[in-house]
Amino acid sequence: MNPKMQTNLAEYYAKRAPHYEDIYQLAHRQSDLLELTERLRQTIDNRNVLEVACGTGYWTERFVGHARHIVATDINTAVLDIAKAKPALENRVDFTIADAFNLPEGDFDACVAGFWWSHVKRSDQSSFLTGVQKACGSGTLLVLFDNCYAEGDSIPIARTDLDGNTYQIRTLPDGTRHEIVKNFPTDSALRKKLGSHARDIRITRQRYFWMLTCLLR
Ligand SMILES: C[S@@+](CC[C@H](N)C(=O)[O-])C[C@H]1O[C@@H](n2cnc3c(N)ncnc32)[C@H](O)[C@@H]1O
Repeated sequence: MNPKMQTNLAEYYAKRAPHYEDIYQLAHRQSDLLELTERLRQTIDNRNVLEVACGTGYWTERFVGHARHIVATDINTAVLDIAKAKPALENRVDFTIADAFNLPEGDFDACVAGFWWSHVKRSDQSSFLTGVQKACGSGTLLVLFDNCYAEGDSIPIARTDLDGNTYQIRTLPDGTRHEIVKNFPTDSALRKKLGSHARDIRITRQRYFWMLTCLLR
């Protein structure tokens, strides 16, 4: 591995911000995306939502009409500025800069994190979940959704580290290459990790995406 290629995740997404939503335009993923959107809307219906790592607000825009209230957080101003400029989100969402490992506390009854879990190293997953428990409290619905590895479609895994984290080499439009942690957990790995933090774990899988719901302990 070329050490110059190792990239801080937040910096990578700050650079990628203007192009980020291109990923949601892929024609062959539209049917899965529509189904995921519908499932998400039903799941968080009328809830007071804390959104973690909201990025450019692609998902916020999809469930804004269904949640009771949304506090949407991300570590990057570059992505939040794009989200804030969306007319559908204006005056309807509270956007806040926040590290996913130091979330704002509030009277939330749902926490949503899309395409975030895959970027959390295995050794940091419990700390992330403990932070969500602290921010939202016991009984809160946690909703995670992310990519399944789709052979021939996903960016190949470039390496696996000693802890079992997998990494992809990603190229941005400016030609720069970045090594990014991207994990593709099995259902049993998710259940094992979430089990000590949550109950009633339910997982659904499509071709391109998985979604997990559970109630925080
Ligand atoms: C794969 S994107 C997901 C964005 C959005 N949830 C979506 O699904 O379209 C990952 C996001 O994590 C954010 N991020 C990276 N490190 C973070 C951290 N430590 N805390 C909070 N957000 C972080 C990035 O800025 C980026 O917006």
